[in-house]
Amino acid sequence: MGVEIRVEGLRKSFGRQVIWEDVTLTVPAGEISALLGPSGTGKSVFLKNLVGLLRPDRGHVYVGGGDVPRLREDQLYELRRRFGVLFQDGALFGSMNVFDNIAFPLREHTRKKETEIRRIVLEKMEMVGLTGAERKLPGEISGGMKKRAGLARALVLDPEIILADEPDSGLDPVRTAYLNQLFVDLNAELGATFLIVTHDIGTARVLPDNLGLLFRRGLVMFGPREMILSSTHPAVNQFFNARRQGPIGMAEEKDLARMEGEGQAPPAMPAPIPPQLMPSDGRPRPSMRRPGEWLARHRVTPPPGSFVDDQGRDWLTEWDRLVRSGQRPA
Ligand SMILES: Nc1ncnc2c1ncn2[C@@H]1O[C@H](COP(=O)(O)OP(=O)(O)O)[C@@H](O)[C@H]1O
Ligand SMILES: [Mg+2]
Repeated sequence: MGVEIRVEGLRKSFGRQVIWEDVTLTVPAGEISALLGPSGTGKSVFLKNLVGLLRPDRGHVYVGGGDVPRLREDQLYELRRRFGVLFQDGALFGSMNVFDNIAFPLREHTRKKETEIRRIVLEKMEMVGLTGAERKLPGEISGGMKKRAGLARALVLDPEIILADEPDSGLDPVRTAYLNQLFVDLNAELGATFLIVTHDIGTARVLPDNLGLLFRRGLVMFGPREMILSSTHPAVNQFFNARRQGPIGMAEEKDLARMEGEGQAPPAMPAPIPPQLMPSDGRPRPSMRRPGEWLARHRVTPPPGSFVDDQGRDWLTEWDRLVRSGQRPA
């Protein structure tokens, strides 16, 4: 089962450059969360702080009892077994073929026999659609394949927490859709906690249970998908609706003159909130919430057209049908 990650008052700088300060959030156990933000806002640095590859200036990262920045090397080594991490560049060993790269954590952290290792590696390779690429070197495969090899490697130890840094960048839309489905199915199957960094608004809108936005040296907002997608906060509204109008500029921060030139237009109506991606077997994941639940509880009117899927089904009634037919786990 997944575990939660509780981050409190985290600050990170490199020399005089403050990346972010006072980041506080809880990544809920067993749920899928996604972190977004303009390039250079420290998303990758954040993930590295969670696994102790970088240390914050101050603050805490509580995972399963320990406080990551304060763990000794041997404790960190133990902790990292519980994480499956897909780094932004795949971080494969260039001199090792795909099979050996994916087998690496099993050989490093377990005493499994080679036949068992082979079974697990081939299973994960099939899962990410890499069957047949065992003997290829990282230099011989495409960027998308490297990502999927990195993902397979992140999965071999059946991690409780999966961190993925832009798993979908460089993938075409169809592969991105497959990858998102894979994440949803894995989460349903393993119950692992997922934290995914992505630039893909389409992914962000349908995949996660929770969304966060990093901008201007801080976490602007983190919370349930419906809260973020219905927000009229200028930066949140701009980012998750992919609009040009708003505080986020080409060079991250617009200057004030430019913003005033655009006028004080109120934030546009958020786009309809799409229904969440379902596992392939059609049954809701245990952590999935009823569509519209957060909005109703906070008396927020859903943007018109929300929760209707591309086949025209309204998920407010569709969900009730699933519950009535007993497909919703109690
Ligand atoms: N090891 C490092 N040493 C110094 N600066 C770094 C290091 N890693 C990242 N940075 C800087 O931190 C900032 C945030 O980087 P990063 O986390 O990669 O951004 P993002 O993933 O959001 O695009 C960038 O300005 C980057 O140059
Ligand atoms: Mg990054």
